[in-house]
Amino acid sequence: MPGKIISVANMKGGVGKTTLAVHLSLAYANAMPGQPPLRVLLVDLDAQANASFWLCGDLALTELIEGGKTIDAFLEDSLLFSMKRPLLEFAYDVWSENNGARRLSVIPSSPELRLVERELIYFLSEGKRNLREIEADLGERFAIELEALRNNFDLVLFDTAPGISALTEAALRASDFILVPTIPDFISNLGLEAFCRSVWKNNRDQSRSKMPWVVANMVRETSHHAIMLSEMRSEAAAADAGFGMLRAEIPSCLAIEEGGGLSGVSQGQIAVPSDDVVAAPFRLVAQEIMQILDSAHQEMADARRAAR
Ligand SMILES: Nc1ncnc2c1ncn2[C@@H]1O[C@H](COP(=O)(O)OP(=O)(O)OP(=O)(O)O)[C@@H](O)[C@H]1O
Ligand SMILES: [Mg+2]
Repeated sequence: MPGKIISVANMKGGVGKTTLAVHLSLAYANAMPGQPPLRVLLVDLDAQANASFWLCGDLALTELIEGGKTIDAFLEDSLLFSMKRPLLEFAYDVWSENNGARRLSVIPSSPELRLVERELIYFLSEGKRNLREIEADLGERFAIELEALRNNFDLVLFDTAPGISALTEAALRASDFILVPTIPDFISNLGLEAFCRSVWKNNRDQSRSKMPWVVANMVRETSHHAIMLSEMRSEAAAADAGFGMLRAEIPSCLAIEEGGGLSGVSQGQIAVPSDDVVAAPFRLVAQEIMQILDSAHQEMADARRAAR
């Protein structure tokens, strides 16, 4: 079965997109209870390259950037200069076991992505097309590469940049699941509904299972967080809701704040500390996403059977 694509996105910065993307990729690659081993790829679409840093470590990431093995190098070569280097070739194995049956890989990013993305927009807009047409064009070009990724990995996770980006739009359009981390506070909640609705409206699939799913992150035991969470859960439960909301929540945790909740990063040997307190909530999020994807798959199969 072709792999599934999960995007982690929120226009708002600093809400935990990268933290979620990295911990989810580790949770899936480290074998979920009752699941077969998975081949997991994280694609870093953010010029901040934080996810690349966590997964590769400083040394390997510097080498990958210098060697032109990052997403911006792919975009520049393939889209601007029509040089055919499949995106799959840019996947760097963080680790691989059992002949690649269990695998964690990353397509890293670099600070150059910011410039390349702008060049790309200028290039694609030469025919005086509007942004929507450019995004659709980029999406089509991307689609071929994504098929190859789907055929080689069970799960492809996109970590996206804050703000608006044509690259994020292309990833969101191709996604089977869109995860929107948010902090349950007043300001983070302000644009959440509008962001989710605009993402969903733009998606090729308008079925309810493809609506964005919000996950509460950095949850603290304060009355403000409790009130905001309850408001968000009521919004998500409404008949005309613009987003779903995962049951699982990620608590605010000092270990994450201080070092991502990860060990071995500086040696390029990323691991989740055996301390289950950090990893456990991410595993619950990972499991819940799998359940939603599985039931969406089942619904589609049932609908197809009924249509025959
Ligand atoms: N559950 C958590 N508990 C404590 N700190 C957290 C938690 N989740 C994320 N953080 C911290 O919050 C900061 C922002 O997290 P992160 O970089 O994942 O957000 P982001 O949405 O990817 O940001 P950006 O929009 O800049 O890409 C980081 O310092 C991170 O370590
Ligand atoms: Mg980030």
